[in-house]
Amino acid sequence: MKEEFTFNSEMALVYETNTRISIPTYDALFAMVQSYYRAQLGEKAASLLVIGAGGGNELSAWGPSNPKWTFTGVDTSEEMLKIAKNKTVQLGLESRVKLIQGTIDDLPLPDSKFDAASCILVLHFIDDIQEKLKLLQTIKDNMKPGAPFVLVSAYGDRDDAELRDRLNVWKSFWLDAGKESAKVKELVNKGIMKISFIPENQIERLLAESGFTNITRFYSTGLFAGWICQAE
Ligand SMILES: C[S@@+](CC[C@H](N)C(=O)[O-])C[C@H]1O[C@@H](n2cnc3c(N)ncnc32)[C@H](O)[C@@H]1O
Repeated sequence: MKEEFTFNSEMALVYETNTRISIPTYDALFAMVQSYYRAQLGEKAASLLVIGAGGGNELSAWGPSNPKWTFTGVDTSEEMLKIAKNKTVQLGLESRVKLIQGTIDDLPLPDSKFDAASCILVLHFIDDIQEKLKLLQTIKDNMKPGAPFVLVSAYGDRDDAELRDRLNVWKSFWLDAGKESAKVKELVNKGIMKISFIPENQIERLLAESGFTNITRFYSTGLFAGWICQAE
């Protein structure tokens, strides 16, 4: 993960607001993913693996309304996990949530594999393609056959006008939210353009290579898209 994207205390504090400017359909995304999981998992008790659980938004969106679900959240940022922990306590979810600081390699050996998993807004912070692949493979290895997985990431080809057009839309989200144009320029140059964009077909290939099937894009807003699929 790039140094500038370490989620320190300052970034953690502004995360709730900024993410909803960057992705105006952020809350709808979580509602859509919940519906997908519910359709896949039915009424049974289920264990969910949340990669990049910092901030706790997966936990607060899906925990209270699905009392039979338990969550294992993994995140590299101590500051983001503090926020997740606070949300867990406020919502009375502690008995159903385990938080682990680190990467997926820090997952303790599970008693059994997970019934579902998510990796929302994490993959684009990993530059190296082999590292992205390794993360997706390790997620898959920790899931039961047929278990649903949701990946959400920035995507696009840096040399393509299509990504430039979407970047212009993204800038307009920030301008409309009241950010000055100099600040928006800085967000582009020092922020968003430093993350790792790869084309949609490459993301889908990585998912397939990692052992996921039924790969379908279900979501897209501005610079980001989401895919549903299932572990083989
Ligand atoms: C943009 S936030 C997304 C948080 C949450 N999934 C959401 O959608 O609100 C990205 C999170 O991924 C975490 N992260 C980055 N690289 C990671 C990795 N390799 N493993 C686990 N977490 C990682 C960051 O610390 C940060 O909390």
